[in-house]
Amino acid sequence: MAANKRLLVLPGDGIGPEVMAEVRRVIDWMDKRRHVTFALDEALIGGAAIDGAGNPLPDRTMELAHAADAIIMGAVGGPKWEKLPFAQQPERGLLGIRKQLSLFANLRPAVVFDALANASTLKLDVVKGLDIMIIRELTGDIYFGEPRGIETLPDGRRKGVNTMTYTTDEVERIGRVAFDLAGKRNKRVCSIDKANVLETTVMWREVMESIKGEYPDVQLSHMYVDNAAMQLVRNPKQFDVIVTGNMFGDILSDCAAMLTGSLGMLPSASLGAPDKTGRRAALYEPVHGSAPDIAGKGVANPLATILSFGMMLRYSFDMVEDADRIDQAVQNVLNNGMRTADIMEPGKAKVSTDTMGSAILAELDKLAA
Ligand code: IPM
Ligand code: MG
Repeated sequence: MAANKRLLVLPGDGIGPEVMAEVRRVIDWMDKRRHVTFALDEALIGGAAIDGAGNPLPDRTMELAHAADAIIMGAVGGPKWEKLPFAQQPERGLLGIRKQLSLFANLRPAVVFDALANASTLKLDVVKGLDIMIIRELTGDIYFGEPRGIETLPDGRRKGVNTMTYTTDEVERIGRVAFDLAGKRNKRVCSIDKANVLETTVMWREVMESIKGEYPDVQLSHMYVDNAAMQLVRNPKQFDVIVTGNMFGDILSDCAAMLTGSLGMLPSASLGAPDKTGRRAALYEPVHGSAPDIAGKGVANPLATILSFGMMLRYSFDMVEDADRIDQAVQNVLNNGMRTADIMEPGKAKVSTDTMGSAILAELDKLAA
């Protein structure tokens, strides 16, 4: 069958290449067993791109990114590149690709797998069964607002400036993503802002209110970000879909990730707006970073990247059955007692990155039989 899905693979730095190797095995499996052929390109990003092409986001990578139907990325960054000037650091590659492809909607599910509920630092009954979706706006806010920079004042003091900005259209489009998704879930959106202090977020709240009428079956509530941080650790199951700006979303999504006890398990999707043909730019990546301390040892957890590939099947290709099958395979290997080092518990079997990958393939075989 002709390859009808063009995929760009960006292994990146640290454990990125190792976990991506396991995704490639899943892709091969899809090809052989499900007759879904992906045309794969691979390109450099982050530190690997600095070393290989002198720039964290080479033009060639962006060319391939524009041509791809979907992108899957490992991770960027590491101590090797930390001393480089700010504008040349690996993170610029990630922020650059998000901005250039207008990947404004970042979906970060925080799901507690039953088999791992004990891994959370929170009490079992607080997190067991947790399933929330954080939707973070990804191309606006203080991350990209102007003016920005560090200037020297006439008296010699230095002044750092970053600017929180949103326009109504930016808030509307991320709001609609949240309402749409909540409509397919438990029909509750909680919008997080700091409307008691920041005008930008006063407007954010007004815009959320102005579009809620389009979604009569979804309930909208608002919460200040400081309270949201507290509520996430106090009673996270009160949330269904959380929608928030770039900066608050960065912070709250790490907090939510840790509720699950296992950063190594969490996938994410960053989506652009659909064009007239329904095609939308999309980048999928695990939430864990490049973990340079364990890179190259074959111990990294590939499940978040495999689940990110599953999100790709679901959100870019509408292959719901195959996406469900991947999620199920992950649950099964966990239920079978397999654990990489990051999620190891007494009495379980500690396995390497590629053994975990093999176990996923074996489960996929069973599920497809
Ligand atoms: C994330 C990361 C990035 C961000 C960094 C690596 C630039 O923390 O994806 O949450 O701040 O967006
Ligand atoms: Mg972050």
